[in-house]
Amino acid sequence: MRNVERDLVGQRSDLTFKHNKSLGRHGWLRLTPAYSVKLVKEIIAGAPVDVSILDPFSGTATTTLTAAEHGNTAVSFDINPFLIWLGNVKCRSYTAAHAQEVRDGVAAAIAKTPALLSQHNWRPPLFNIERWWSSTTLEVLAALRVALVQEFGEPAEERADGLAWVAFCRLVIETSSAAFNHVSMSFSSETAHYEVGHVTDLYSAILDSVLLSCGSPLIGLGEVLEVDARAIPEMGRRFGLVVTSPPYPNRISYIRELRPYMYWMKFLEEAREAGEMDWKAIGGTWGIATSRLTTWGPNGKLLPEVLTDTVGRIAATDTKNAQLLATYVLKYFYDMHLHLSSLPNVLEPGAELHYIVGNSTFFGNVVDTPAILGESMRMLGYEDVESKIIRKRNSNKALFEYDVTARWGG
Ligand SMILES: C[S@@+](CC[C@H](N)C(=O)[O-])C[C@H]1O[C@@H](n2cnc3c(N)ncnc32)[C@H](O)[C@@H]1O
Repeated sequence: MRNVERDLVGQRSDLTFKHNKSLGRHGWLRLTPAYSVKLVKEIIAGAPVDVSILDPFSGTATTTLTAAEHGNTAVSFDINPFLIWLGNVKCRSYTAAHAQEVRDGVAAAIAKTPALLSQHNWRPPLFNIERWWSSTTLEVLAALRVALVQEFGEPAEERADGLAWVAFCRLVIETSSAAFNHVSMSFSSETAHYEVGHVTDLYSAILDSVLLSCGSPLIGLGEVLEVDARAIPEMGRRFGLVVTSPPYPNRISYIRELRPYMYWMKFLEEAREAGEMDWKAIGGTWGIATSRLTTWGPNGKLLPEVLTDTVGRIAATDTKNAQLLATYVLKYFYDMHLHLSSLPNVLEPGAELHYIVGNSTFFGNVVDTPAILGESMRMLGYEDVESKIIRKRNSNKALFEYDVTARWGG
């Protein structure tokens, strides 16, 4: 990419999750690495009207929900049970009668909460939980959770009502000391004390905004399935457009970012499970997902030459973790290669691909994600592979986001 072109690209917050906050269901819960509805809309607008759409890395289901709002049929995949649950709650159609049932159930739960404060209630086994919530706030959240379970069931249960739980997730974050000003979550120095009335008023207000935004029915259909994108099976259906943003090779762990929700919703019950889940995640890096890298090696697959060069440069850096991080980068692209090898199982001939990806740096060595993925695509028989910069990521001059496009000839 010529420097002139790089210098002209701005940070474009309209192309990030920030743009989604005010967009109804898209703004329910925030995941910083989510991409923007605007970007997805632009891509869908350029495709045939009734194209069926796939997002193999669902995250907060931005692609699938945007597609369903636009009238298309879309499916997305993820391996994170919380995100699969959230995506499906976001992509469902709700009636006014249903919204009223949720309102009534929540009113009953709120009425029960003060009486539950005097008993010992379950709390999530989150490490250093007192950094997140003061003891007063935590007591109220735990009591409200018990009351909500009585009305709606546990979130992971089939019968459970997702809307009340999505609102609870928002409440948990809004009453916490977590701040989202960076790529990953940080903490403010103090936790606030929220009394029961304050928490339940805030919960009711959040619920109102959630119910308001699900009032407009979806025209199309969207669904999130539990599928490991590294081994996509034949499914008896095929897609003509792939719009996705896989994890970037930057050591962000989605499980780690989502841990308050995942523990409160009981999608995660102990720390070891988190490392196991992150080992399945491409680019995962939490706990054992990093320690296992020391014994991991690629399984004889032919990989892009540009990847071998990059990994060699990182490994040769005179730094303590050079070899470990070189293996991290190698595994990331190895997993992406597996993904691209199995993707044709669900592609229509001529399917168009858009991969929104970011580059990264390790000890000053740039990892040229679009070039490496592009080479993987060409090796696997994808055609018309191209990439263009769509925005600058942050103040680090070297970091950009790209749209890598290709076509599956079939
Ligand atoms: C960058 S996020 C996607 C963000 C999404 N575009 C959005 O707007 O919210 C990448 C997602 O890929 C998922 N993922 C990681 N490894 C995966 C795998 N092996 N199979 C399926 N999904 C995976 C992660 O759980 C995460 O939700």
